[in-house]
Amino acid sequence: MTDTTIRLSRKKPENFDGDMLIYTPFVNDKEKIISGQIVAEQEFNDAVSIGDFDGKYGDTLLLYPAGNVKKKIAVRRVFFAGLGNVEKKNDNETRELLRKTGGLIAKEAGATKSTQLGICLESILSCAGEAGVESLVEGILLGDYRFVKYKSKSKKKEKGSFTGIKEIVIFSSGSKSNRKILKGIKRAVNSATAACKARDMANEPGNGWTPTSFAVYARSLAGKYKMTCTVLGKGDMKRLKMGGLLGVNQGSSEPPKLVILEYKSPKKEADTILFVGKGLTFDSGGVSLKPSAGMQDMKYDMCGGAAALSAMSVVGAEQPDVNVIAIIPATDNMGGSSALKPGDIIKHYGGITSEIVNTDAEGRLILADSLAYGIKRYKPTCVVDLATLTGAVILGLGHHRTGLLGNSQELIDRIVRAGDKSGEPLWQLPLDEEYTEQIESDVADIKNSGGRPAGTITAAAYLQKFVGKIPWVHLDIAGTAWDFTKKSYIPKGPSGIAVRTLVELVRDWKKFS
Ligand code: BES
Ligand code: MN
Ligand code: ZN
Repeated sequence: MTDTTIRLSRKKPENFDGDMLIYTPFVNDKEKIISGQIVAEQEFNDAVSIGDFDGKYGDTLLLYPAGNVKKKIAVRRVFFAGLGNVEKKNDNETRELLRKTGGLIAKEAGATKSTQLGICLESILSCAGEAGVESLVEGILLGDYRFVKYKSKSKKKEKGSFTGIKEIVIFSSGSKSNRKILKGIKRAVNSATAACKARDMANEPGNGWTPTSFAVYARSLAGKYKMTCTVLGKGDMKRLKMGGLLGVNQGSSEPPKLVILEYKSPKKEADTILFVGKGLTFDSGGVSLKPSAGMQDMKYDMCGGAAALSAMSVVGAEQPDVNVIAIIPATDNMGGSSALKPGDIIKHYGGITSEIVNTDAEGRLILADSLAYGIKRYKPTCVVDLATLTGAVILGLGHHRTGLLGNSQELIDRIVRAGDKSGEPLWQLPLDEEYTEQIESDVADIKNSGGRPAGTITAAAYLQKFVGKIPWVHLDIAGTAWDFTKKSYIPKGPSGIAVRTLVELVRDWKKFS
């Protein structure tokens, strides 16, 4: 979706001379295909009559109507993507179906190297309203994602390469609600751009996206949207006694950063939400070294930080009625000669001591300092942290749902609703007292691993020690940040998970009780 421009047109689609014109027919209760007015009507009817298109969701049809001299159709390709029986779906199902249809459209654009698309809205508006346009556009932009930065020029130019959709013309012919449609498009562009930016950060290798990169990007957002950026360096961390973040960084020559970005709502007496995202730019495991097979994927261990910071770009652009602060503790986890060792004891910001039994359980160490510091310094109304924290969440939920735990059912419910609305489903895990026993230490206040049983829960129990009574939710995105459930608008590799959930959470935020 690099630099895709989108515009509304009141002109007739017949005259569109781009690469591909798109219709999204649906099916009504009587199994009848409803397509609205279409160019290439005869060709379409022929295809339907021989059974090549039934309008069901996922069914597609590509026509080349330029040979139809009578009608003088300018466009080279007409693409139909069926929606099925939308009327039987609830709102969230419809949103997801349209996003996925958007993903299919992006795939077809890629396959045919179509850079200029025209989209005819008639059928979408009649079955899903203006909100449907937002989901469709979001799906197209999310689906039209590629990361080619490190492909050398000659490779990029090889025959068959496609650099993405350049222009989308939306034919809203006759619709009286262009303002609403435009607003939806804007939201879709904001959220998809942010999710794609999070994917870009994650796709960067450990030597391409460093803690300093988080700081640089946060500063650029602060400049663009009048937000406040503060970057704490190693000296500040020493002064503040952030033994967790410093400890994890100890085996690395790459300096750590604690990146803070603050958005202040123009509304007086607004709530304040604090996001804390794990920005571990490469997790080797440290002295408790990870197995080498698949270790390269640990460049994705910064996806929580990427999501928190990317969501802030939408916050800046949309200015919601709630203050939002993002804190990203950023470092890599290496095993240099001064690295943390199993058995070492560290002291977190605020004074809690922790016995390091496994240097690979580093995420909770950097989050603990950040949660404690963020809560003390900014006194937020509530806190959401997100992290690729445990392999255990993959054993429990696979790659289809993000795990979530917390101390406030109200906040948990809000996030689950935001996730369902965004096509990023979550699943709550319990966080009972008993699990805390697993992280009791003989020599320090707590230890940093509770062993294999309930690994995701004991990790959350560790974090809970640093949040106290404040409403807090923890998202474990280890299973969903990459290799996320297969769908048309989710590419291979990093998914950008949680960006759109966070965005949805802050849009229309209602005062927290
Ligand atoms: N970043 C990993 C978690 C992870 C593992 C994410 C696999 C995605 C895929 C985290 O830092 C980690 O290593 N966790 C350990 C904790 C254990 C040592 C208590 C784990 O899950 O094995
Ligand atoms: Mn680790
Ligand atoms: Zn990690």
